[in-house]
Amino acid sequence: MNYRSLKNLSEPVSELCFGTMRYARKDGVEDSQSVAGTVALENAIEQGVNFIHSSYEYETRWLTGRVLKAHPKRADLHHIIKVNVPDWEEPRFSRDSFRRQVETALRELGTERIAVVQHLQRGVSRKELMTEHGDEYRLAQFDEVSSELAEISGQLRSEGKIGTVMSFPYTVEYARIAVDAEVYSGLVAYFNFLETEMAQFFPRLREQKKDFIAIRPLAGGILTDHRVDRESLPSDDRMHDTKSDDMYRRLEQVRQVTGKPPIPWEQYAFRFTLADSVVKSTVLGVNTTAHLTTAASEYQVEPGLVQQIAEIKV
Ligand SMILES: NC(=O)c1ccc[n+]([C@@H]2O[C@H](COP(=O)([O-])OP(=O)(O)OC[C@H]3O[C@@H](n4cnc5c(N)ncnc54)[C@H](OP(=O)(O)O)[C@@H]3O)[C@@H](O)[C@H]2O)c1
Repeated sequence: MNYRSLKNLSEPVSELCFGTMRYARKDGVEDSQSVAGTVALENAIEQGVNFIHSSYEYETRWLTGRVLKAHPKRADLHHIIKVNVPDWEEPRFSRDSFRRQVETALRELGTERIAVVQHLQRGVSRKELMTEHGDEYRLAQFDEVSSELAEISGQLRSEGKIGTVMSFPYTVEYARIAVDAEVYSGLVAYFNFLETEMAQFFPRLREQKKDFIAIRPLAGGILTDHRVDRESLPSDDRMHDTKSDDMYRRLEQVRQVTGKPPIPWEQYAFRFTLADSVVKSTVLGVNTTAHLTTAASEYQVEPGLVQQIAEIKV
């Protein structure tokens, strides 16, 4: 496993960050999925993964806490958690809610410190978020939110409960502001062959000595040898859903540039997200030990490919 250093953290984090969104049932019922998830997390740590992504929204922390609370490497692990304040349709930032979300995670994960708080400023409805109105509303609140956030995150940092705070911007307009805000040490966002809009901020992040953490390196599972050819998928595969149509359309364009990759698609797509050194780690959804092979290759993707792919118009 390779490691990279994040601003404000003394120890480096693994290039693969273990994503916990789909690795266990939400209702806490033990079944084959949680057995496979347990083994995957244990094996990941064994293989050197020291960075774990979680959110109360996934409802899988029951399993993460159970695996980690008594784990012999517990003290060497770093956590990144989503903290949503203000949450959907909440009118204002609440310091109490921010503190509560951090302290609940500390308890649930059995850790003394959250390395990275991934902050999401919502404040509008889910439907409005990605619209112009959503941007307008969130940007109008930005100064107030960031000054409240600076206050509470400073307190939690001095109590040793958190390391650094990064923004999950949702939109390009919001990212444009967040990238320069002092309260954030960088951005955490979707980034993969099919979702490249945040790559435009890499040079600015580098100038500012800030970081980027990529989420969803395989575009949810499309960028794998198993799924790149949609026609060959069994009829019950989740990628037949029309929601994936745009992604497959973009993939056609991407494949015209890449040709057949020199290593399996999942490994190539993973390496792509780490081609630019401003990206410090990539959050991969790991549900089984087999998924860990995604990070097995040392192949170096040319950083210039990121720009080339980002310029594709569909
Ligand atoms: N807003 C946010 O902050 C946000 C939102 C979404 C996700 N996340 C985080 O990001 C993580 C990753 O998101 P994601 O799971 O949607 O996207 P992803 O990491 O791009 O895709 C993961 C999926 O790809 C498949 N896969 C993984 N490794 C594979 C391999 N070696 N070979 C073949 N297939 C493989 C698995 O699907 P199958 O098991 O179906 O094959 C797995 O569920 C989540 O776990 C979560 O922690 C954060």
